[in-house]
Parts: sequence; C-alpha cells; structure tokens
Amino acid sequence: MLRHLMSPMDFSVDELSRLMDLAGDIERNPKKYAHACDGKILATLFYEPSTRTRLSFESAMLRLGGKTLGFATADSSSAAKGESVSDTIRMISCYTDICAMRHPKEGAALVASAKAKIPVINAGDGGHQHPTQTLTDMLTIRSLKGRLDNLTIGLCGDLKFGRTVHSLIKSLVRYENVRFVLISPEELRIPSYIRDDVLEKGGIEYKEVRQLESVMPELDLLYMTRVQKERFFNEEDYVRLKDFYILDKKKMDLAKPDMLVLHPLPRVNEISIEVDDDPRAVYFQQGQYGVYVRMALILSLLFPEEYKVLEQEG
Ligand code: NCD
Repeated sequence: MLRHLMSPMDFSVDELSRLMDLAGDIERNPKKYAHACDGKILATLFYEPSTRTRLSFESAMLRLGGKTLGFATADSSSAAKGESVSDTIRMISCYTDICAMRHPKEGAALVASAKAKIPVINAGDGGHQHPTQTLTDMLTIRSLKGRLDNLTIGLCGDLKFGRTVHSLIKSLVRYENVRFVLISPEELRIPSYIRDDVLEKGGIEYKEVRQLESVMPELDLLYMTRVQKERFFNEEDYVRLKDFYILDKKKMDLAKPDMLVLHPLPRVNEISIEVDDDPRAVYFQQGQYGVYVRMALILSLLFPEEYKVLEQEG
C-alpha cells in the first residue's frame, strides 16, 4: 500500500519508534545502507525557500546510493506558467520513485498525495505542518535525552505561524507526562486548532506565558523559533516582534544543567551566538539527526516490506 507523510500523526507511536530505531542503526552502520536505494530517484519539489530540509533530503538519498532531481524555487518550475500541483505530481510520478514537497499553501502536499503514484512527503506546507522536522526533533530528543516522555518542553517565539511547533506538539502529546510551556507575545500565541483541539481536548498540561526568564528553571527542553517574516501581513508588526526573545548566556544561567536548546533553524536573532558553545545548545547536532531520520523515512516508504517500520494494512 502506498503511504505518504503529511503530518507526524500519520505514523503511530510504534511506527515512529521503529523509524527512529532504523535511523539509529543507519547512524551506527552507514555502510550497510550505502546502496540501499541504488537505481531510485527522489524528487525535491520546493515552491518555497529552504536550505536544510531540501539539502538534507538530497544528502539522505545520495547517502543511500540513490539520485535526486527537482527544483528549488517555484519560478523555476512550470508553476510560474500556472500549472497546478496536481498536474505537476502526475508528471513527477512518471520520472521518480518518491517525492518531498514544500509549498507556501497549507494542504498543498495533501492535494499532491491524492494524485500521486509515488510516496509524497510533506516538507512544509505554509504555516501548517512540517513532519520531517518533527521526526528530526524527536530523534534528537530521544538520542540526547534518552526519552520522549516525562518532559517539560518550552516552545518559544512565533507559535502562531511556526509550523514546526504545531507538528511537534501534535506528535509529543502522545507520550506520557509531557507538559508544555508556551512562551510567546500575545500576537504570536499558538493557534486555537492546537490549543483547543489538541491540548485542551487531550487533557494535556500546558501554560501560556509571555516571559522567558521566569520559566527557564523548570524546562527540560527549550525549543526556540524564528519569527516567520514571510507569513506576516505587514512589515511593521514583524519589525516590532522579531527581537521579542533573545536567548543569551544570562538566560542560560537560569536553566537546568541538562536542559537542551533546540531550534529548527534558520536562526535570525533569537539565539545569541554566544550560546552556541554551551554544551546544552544542540541545534547544529539536530541537523545531523535530520539526515539519519530522512534516510530511514525514505527506506520505510520505498521498501515497506523490507524494513517493516510501517504497519502493512489489508
Ligand atoms: C523551518 C521551516 O521551514 O518551517 N525550517 C526548517 O525546515 N528547518 C523553520 C523556519 O523556517 O523557521
């Protein structure tokens, strides 16, 4: 059966656990997988800017022995001529075996998956979801913290437009005793479809605060985010809010000695570079886990029977 990845919720907790186990095995034994995708092609269809996500997908496929093709901007594709995502994916299904798509419109990857003959991976759809960043975040947390349960997680910055935050919360609420501290200015609070439909409905413990300093001591993880300039309706609001939080050494002094700082990157000003040398700052390491987990994802979607990460239906 053809499986896609639109949201981290598409995979059960058991499937995620097996996926992360596979990523771990790839990390320890890269040679074993160096030809696993010989003869296969990954398409990267990026209608919106990206450095990490697109290149980590390409790196993942190349490290598996496969090849890649695609485009990095909408205006270098037929989208500039008015072609629909549905038509593009029908063609891409003839050229490649699997595809990662990023699009500024919420739901674009879902539309593509309905017409695709190959697995489609949502590499970010507008302000909605970013499941492979969540897989990256989860593998980082599981590898460096040793668990995904019993955690107090601070999410700080643009919780309104930050799709990585939405995906991460939706995924982590499935683990035991996970508590969220949502740190944002009033204008960038978490959307109600997360607060009401996920946190409230699920009976998950959370609080919303404006100030970062006062909650630092209680956090096991701090997930910093960039204010999403491209999703603002006016420049003035962006300029007013962009430097609302700046994590610096002084604030790090308030944190637990084993608290981890994550960030999906790119960073703008929200983490001072003086924090980079702190052993608790793991945002560059996170990028490495992103390659392993995307390798595991490509293998699981392309060869479901061989890798047995995903449950087979029917
Ligand atoms: C994130 C994204 O695109 O949502 N970047 C990424 O993929 N690592 C975060 C961001 O752009 O702020």
